[in-house]
Amino acid sequence: MKAVQVTDFGGPEVLRFIDTEVPKINENQVLIKVVATSVNFADIKARYGQYHNAGKPPFIPGLDAAGVVAEVGSNIKNFTVGQRVIAFPKNGSYAEYIVADENLVFLLPDKIDFVTAAASPIVLFTSYKLLADVARLKPGETVLIHAAAGGIGTTAIQLAKLLGADKVIGTVGSEQKIPIAIEAGADYVICNENVDFVKEVNQITNGNGVDVILDSIAGAVFEQSLNCLADYGRLVNFGNSSGSPGQIKSSDLHSSCRSVLGFSLGTTRNKRPELLKETADRVLPFLEQEQIKMKIGKQYKLEDASEAHALVESRKSIGKVVLMV
Ligand SMILES: NC(=O)c1ccc[n+]([C@@H]2O[C@H](COP(=O)([O-])OP(=O)(O)OC[C@H]3O[C@@H](n4cnc5c(N)ncnc54)[C@H](OP(=O)(O)O)[C@@H]3O)[C@@H](O)[C@H]2O)c1
Repeated sequence: MKAVQVTDFGGPEVLRFIDTEVPKINENQVLIKVVATSVNFADIKARYGQYHNAGKPPFIPGLDAAGVVAEVGSNIKNFTVGQRVIAFPKNGSYAEYIVADENLVFLLPDKIDFVTAAASPIVLFTSYKLLADVARLKPGETVLIHAAAGGIGTTAIQLAKLLGADKVIGTVGSEQKIPIAIEAGADYVICNENVDFVKEVNQITNGNGVDVILDSIAGAVFEQSLNCLADYGRLVNFGNSSGSPGQIKSSDLHSSCRSVLGFSLGTTRNKRPELLKETADRVLPFLEQEQIKMKIGKQYKLEDASEAHALVESRKSIGKVVLMV
């Protein structure tokens, strides 16, 4: 089969289009012929050797995919050959075939096309876990979402609104991204390039700060975010796009009754995969009923994965970047 391989840790040029064996399934697994997969920021981190769940080169990157069941293990009761599915695979998804444990394969409703489906697993499942389960967002609360024009950003804005958020504020790294976050449903979008987001958020919220912050950037952005988190607020850190950790003091939390939380879908896939069935049951109907529309930025052929990576790394991508297999 054709696949893309990380040949060495490094820049987009280390991605090579190769021929390799079709992976084999065990009795509890499903083989899927991939139609489309997506670029997640974790793939960039994995390519540089900075992702906590990735292996050493050579490896096939990629965390999610949409396709058709090609073969099922002898213990599989819930899937048959030919069904349309999405999955979080065992091996990398930048490939013609992937293997996934049965509990990480989800039936795709007919109405959802493959490109939408491929764009959704990581960002839609993560956004739901972050807002509903980790931050425990309540109707009427205010939310701040960093990197608001990206894959997670455009999805989490829509989901926050669906879950009843009052004001949703986004931050973006350049002016060109403002309309993308507005289109996703943000009430306010702040461009970090030339504006102090803390001051703006406090002004928008009449000095109270926001109830929930989704921070995937860490470093200085994490630290500054605490200056616009309301009493009883919850800041969820779930990434470190900046490459730097953020520091916190216990005095930032105790008297203000605020919480700082963490989440990783990768850890959840590995250690508590059973939690994701319930998430699938919640989020797939949102896609089916078009209550959430995945923002697809660009589509590339699988063999052009290095171009796709260069785009995401440049901070110029919007929404999800999809690879057609
Ligand atoms: N914990 C989890 O389970 C989980 C799951 C999915 C994603 N994530 C994390 O969520 C974040 C978003 O993921 P995504 O796949 O949707 O990517 P994305 O948002 O489409 O792309 C990354 C964005 O991060 C922002 N960014 C800020 N500082 C950056 C830097 N130094 N270098 C590059 N980008 C920078 C850029 O937006 P601006 O230019 O607008 O700032 C960039 O467009 C990533 O940190 C990712 O690791 C975590």
